[in-house]
Amino acid sequence: SYGKNANRHIFTSCVVLFLACFGTTSSVECPDKCGCTTTTVECVSQNLISIPQPLTLNITTLLLNGNNIFSLSEESFPVRLEQLTNLYLSGNRIEQVDPGVFNNLPSLHLLDLSNNKILNFSPDAFPDHSMLQVLNLSRSLYNASYVDVVSDLLNKSVPELSHLILSNNGLLFLPDSIFNSLLNLTTVDLRNNSIVLIKSGTFRSRALNYLDLRDNALKRLLNGTLADFDQIPGLRLYLAGNPWHCDCNLGDMVIWLQRSDLVADKMNLTCAEPTELRNTQLLKLKDEELQCIYSRDMKSVLETSYVFLGMVLALIGVIFLLVLYLNRKGIKRWMYNIRDACRDHMEGYHYRYEINSDPRLANLSLNSDV
Ligand SMILES: *[C@@H]1O[C@H](CO)[C@@H](O)[C@H](O)[C@H]1NC(C)=O
Ligand SMILES: *[C@@H]1O[C@H](CO)[C@@H](O)[C@H](O)[C@H]1NC(C)=O
Ligand SMILES: *[C@@H]1O[C@H](CO)[C@@H](O)[C@H](O)[C@H]1NC(C)=O
Ligand SMILES: *[C@@H]1O[C@H](CO)[C@@H](O)[C@H](O)[C@H]1NC(C)=O
Ligand SMILES: *[C@@H]1O[C@H](CO)[C@@H](O)[C@H](O)[C@H]1NC(C)=O
Ligand SMILES: *[C@@H]1O[C@H](CO)[C@@H](O)[C@H](O)[C@H]1NC(C)=O
Ligand SMILES: *[C@@H]1O[C@H](CO)[C@@H](O)[C@H](O)[C@H]1NC(C)=O
Ligand SMILES: *[C@@H]1O[C@H](CO)[C@@H](O)[C@H](O)[C@H]1NC(C)=O
Repeated sequence: SYGKNANRHIFTSCVVLFLACFGTTSSVECPDKCGCTTTTVECVSQNLISIPQPLTLNITTLLLNGNNIFSLSEESFPVRLEQLTNLYLSGNRIEQVDPGVFNNLPSLHLLDLSNNKILNFSPDAFPDHSMLQVLNLSRSLYNASYVDVVSDLLNKSVPELSHLILSNNGLLFLPDSIFNSLLNLTTVDLRNNSIVLIKSGTFRSRALNYLDLRDNALKRLLNGTLADFDQIPGLRLYLAGNPWHCDCNLGDMVIWLQRSDLVADKMNLTCAEPTELRNTQLLKLKDEELQCIYSRDMKSVLETSYVFLGMVLALIGVIFLLVLYLNRKGIKRWMYNIRDACRDHMEGYHYRYEINSDPRLANLSLNSDV
């Protein structure tokens, strides 16, 4: 009987335990493999291939870093989550972001899509009046060719954006007017790309206060770009880690750098070329050091060609003298011939002159002419 009682006791405690477990899961609605608090759902590195469901309606933060999610579609957020502001999807395998994905997330403020492989990001992924302010696309594109995907997205979908992170994407250039629709843009991180040129007109947002262009492939900044920067009050610009090309074309930038306070790391800018100036600080360059290799080359080319010309002329002179020398007998004969011919001619002339000047013979000569 003792055993029976014990069994019943175990049974009832099991039922209680089961009810307790069931009760908690139903009230918090925490999806499988996730940890939940009242406002946060966290399912990190769980090999998830889609957004876990169902999600508590009240959550503000959803962390899904390090899973295997490969696409986001309209079904990813089937229920309206009015309060969700922060969505972390870093380190997944996302290639595709369909139209309407974020329509049920009207308060979305921060979207972290870093470390993905995006090929296609619909400009209609966000609702009409998107509140998105922070977009992290660090190492996020499949490759640098997909920068136009970002450009189209920024053009009309996220007017309130203030922080844009595009670092580590291997970008070679920035499409024309990529940031022009973003009037509230304050922070742009383009660190560790391969950007070779900043076209004038690329950065015009007056709100911009942090621009990171470190570790790119910039060789110089042109006047128009410098003038754009001068128009942005309170800008802090980071430019170290670029292979500055210290030749005659860098003069304007060096002068600008010396007088401007915009470049926060201006002490850290150094030449990469030419080799004589490698690792020299841009700020310490003197005007006369900024030579163009091109013109130096041209000068030496000209010098060698003058020497060559002189040698050719000397050679021609020597050959000429040699010919004269070898042919000296012929020349002598020829000279005699000419002299004789001259003399004959002169004598004839002299004779006629004498006849003409003798008045007694003038008539005779006249008659003979007639
Ligand atoms: C969700 O919010 C509602 C009201 O906004 C509140 O009554 C409810 O307790 C909240 N639920 C949780 C799990 O916090
Ligand atoms: C963007 O993502 C990268 C990589 O995950 C991270 O290191 C960085 O802190 C993020 N930046 C912001 C502003 O969230
Ligand atoms: C990017 O990927 C596409 C498709 O795989 C390829 O055709 C293109 O050459 C790649 N571009 C770069 C810059 O690697
Ligand atoms: C931005 O969109 C407008 C129309 O909505 C278009 O005329 C313009 O060319 C686009 N700009 C870029 C940089 O795509
Ligand atoms: C720079 O970006 C490339 C991708 O373009 C990446 O492979 C590399 O690890 C990045 N370097 C650093 C220091 O993050
Ligand atoms: C930008 O910010 C200002 C004030 O911070 C705000 O009034 C405005 O609506 C924001 N959006 C745009 C697109 O200017
Ligand atoms: C760049 O601007 C400076 C002064 O603003 C001017 O002296 C210089 O000639 C300009 N350089 C070029 C290449 O236009
Ligand atoms: C300049 O470079 C040094 C060494 O890399 C670094 O410690 C320092 O913070 C940099 N200065 C600025 C203003 O970025």
